[in-house]
Amino acid sequence: MKRVNYVIANWKMNGLRSHRKLYNSINKHLVSKKSNKPNVIICPPHTLIHTFALEKKSKVKLGAQDAHQHNSGAFTGCISSEMIKDLGAEYVIIGHSERRQYFNESTQLIADKIKTAHKHNLKVILCIGELKSEIKNRKKVLRNQLKSLPVNPNHKNIIIAYEPVWAIGTGLTPSLLEINEIHSSIRSILKSKLDFSKKVSILYGGSVNRKNAKEILSLENVDGALVGGASLKISEFSKIIDYS
Ligand code: 13P
Repeated sequence: MKRVNYVIANWKMNGLRSHRKLYNSINKHLVSKKSNKPNVIICPPHTLIHTFALEKKSKVKLGAQDAHQHNSGAFTGCISSEMIKDLGAEYVIIGHSERRQYFNESTQLIADKIKTAHKHNLKVILCIGELKSEIKNRKKVLRNQLKSLPVNPNHKNIIIAYEPVWAIGTGLTPSLLEINEIHSSIRSILKSKLDFSKKVSILYGGSVNRKNAKEILSLENVDGALVGGASLKISEFSKIIDYS
């Protein structure tokens, strides 16, 4: 089954207006590849989305790193899905482990955020992943986190990113065999939830870099990567794009 391949950059809380240079270098790299594959999405801080969206004829797609569960209202400091769409982004990351960890985001809250994002026609990149202490119960943890998917999700507006929390920013990754197996069990959980489960792209994230990307991205059950630290360096990120 052919699935869409994505390489997604999560810049987290990094990026000033001068990062337009990096955005342009990534775009230049894609143009030089003369191919539309993979789909490359940059998720910069909210403050940069509009600046990047103004770049004409860019091959890079844009996403946000989070969106509030309400459409609008008295929620000081928050950003809504409608605003993100208005800025020119097509995607939004929801449920990143840093949001779960530092902002106490629950499965129910994440479900609400997904619902609102879909209402505003944003495609959702749903992050799931276990803590180190949960490795033994991984399948149960992932199954619970996937409960935040809407009742009838559509493979066209949902991308799953499996990011083991203990692999984020640590230089550690599960073995290749484990990654392949975990992605396969995520797909079987999805099977019970949606009609087109085979078409949903499942990405791997957590310490992906130019050295390990080739092997990870060539795994049968991996449909791309969600990249943090390495997406902030053109030398690293362009190689990851090339391997996908
Ligand atoms: P690193 O690639 O820095 O480990 O971060 C992964 C991540 O959290 C992407 O969302």
